[in-house]
Amino acid sequence: MEKSIKGILHTPEHFDVIIIGTGIAGMFTALSIQKKLKILMITKETLKRSTSHLAQGGIASPIFGDHLYEDTLRAGGYVNDPKRVRILVEEGQRQIGKLIHWGVPFERDQEGNLLATREGGHSEKNILHCKDETGKKIMTVLEKELRKNDRITILEETYVYRLKSFADKKGSGGGKVFSMLCDGESKEFCSPNIVLATGGIGGIFEYTSNPEGNTGDGIALGNSLGAATKNMDFNQFHPTYFHGNGGDGFLVTEALRGEGAVLRNVDGKAFMNEKHPMGDLAPRDVVARGIVEELQRSGKGDVSLDSSHMEKEFIKQRFPKIYRKALQRGFDITKAPLPVRPVSHYMMGGIAVDEIGETSIPGVYAVGECACTDVHGANRLASNSLLEAIVFGGRAAKNISETFLEKNRNDSEQRLLLDCNRSAKPKEGNDFSWSVKELKDFQKALKKETQKVLGIIKEDGLLREFYSDQELALRMFDGASPPKNWTVEEKRVFYEVNNQLIVTCMMTKAALERNQNIGAHYKVQGKDNSPKRRVAVPLQNEKK
Ligand code: SIN
Repeated sequence: MEKSIKGILHTPEHFDVIIIGTGIAGMFTALSIQKKLKILMITKETLKRSTSHLAQGGIASPIFGDHLYEDTLRAGGYVNDPKRVRILVEEGQRQIGKLIHWGVPFERDQEGNLLATREGGHSEKNILHCKDETGKKIMTVLEKELRKNDRITILEETYVYRLKSFADKKGSGGGKVFSMLCDGESKEFCSPNIVLATGGIGGIFEYTSNPEGNTGDGIALGNSLGAATKNMDFNQFHPTYFHGNGGDGFLVTEALRGEGAVLRNVDGKAFMNEKHPMGDLAPRDVVARGIVEELQRSGKGDVSLDSSHMEKEFIKQRFPKIYRKALQRGFDITKAPLPVRPVSHYMMGGIAVDEIGETSIPGVYAVGECACTDVHGANRLASNSLLEAIVFGGRAAKNISETFLEKNRNDSEQRLLLDCNRSAKPKEGNDFSWSVKELKDFQKALKKETQKVLGIIKEDGLLREFYSDQELALRMFDGASPPKNWTVEEKRVFYEVNNQLIVTCMMTKAALERNQNIGAHYKVQGKDNSPKRRVAVPLQNEKK
């Protein structure tokens, strides 16, 4: 931890802005806040570990023409908010300009012109990239900027387990953040501006391109405050993930298809052309479903991605990381197809925000994947996530900067501290009744069922059954706290599993409620409606 604040804090310490999460959305928001505001950034990971680091393909860029507007709406099934998409396209260029100014080394030709690539759903080459490591390159630059900035305090490996809002009817916002430091010590902070930037939910699935820790914490925290959420049934699967032997898998960027690679079924037949006019470059939801159809037909676990016809040196030079990773696992992608399958990748829904990134709770913002800006509609266009994070993160930062009156800082601080003191201390819950082993087994089973029930094609009957199982399981967490003698890691698992359950519950409910199949939401009636419990809840310990 670079700037440790341990030992100098009074409880609760006041900051002008608190940002929870340090992926691209959190970092860009922090760096875009003008004025000399005192900012605290908290991450349960470290600055070097986030989903943003894993982004390969690139960042969609409006600098190559106006196709991005129409491509975004078309990929999203036209349920996106056109006004917000217009904002994305119009403000994107300026925010990408900031990345370039800070030193992100996007690929250029010999004359120094920016080079673009293409991915699914794009009608043209629209995507800026740094070979196949765009996220890592962007995050390295942002981290460098962040660490130079002495008004930003960074707290790593710190878990935020509760939020309290002091929003009042007059519109004053803000609240209190309860966190657990890596040594187990509890710390409380307060601020008039709290920004949720905790990323996505991929970790609630058995198979995902996300880091395992993506358990939807921010969405669950927002939900605990009563913040409105939206489109929780719109969860995107990335079509091409190399699964390997489990644990050593990796994402294979759509840009590989953008540069000419082809999906083949078990018989070696290229199948996407007969499923969609854009073939292998159809929007992601269409390609993922196309693969599922092939897998169901063949009964196999993978299709394959074939780049063996492409120029060998080009692949090695343009996709060095994927080439290397595949080779290390015994696959030379310049010579033979690579087995791939779809995995959970990106949540289009989340905490509903307005045009400036504010949630329905005054003073609480949400940016990046945990937010639903309505830009992506039912299916996000490839490489629009980094763009959305910087455009709407930039907007939240602008609003926070403009509405924060430095001359009122003391008043605001006094009001919040009074609110903190007046508010009843949250009740310590009863000790959670399961053992750590039961909790971890349950988490594993829940991920498996989430994979099955909330997958690419959902069945109505299974959704209904899953929902009643979740309600039952949630009762076990209600009003409970992790026992004091649990380690920090075990306590974190308790909170993460609780969040995981809350999020799966929201997703299941949303999927049950939506009857029109659109984008990432695809539901069938199902053949077998016979009830059978699937997630084993250790009921013998159920509270009376
Ligand atoms: C990819 O490179 O295929 C992933 C990029 C994205 O999720 O938009």
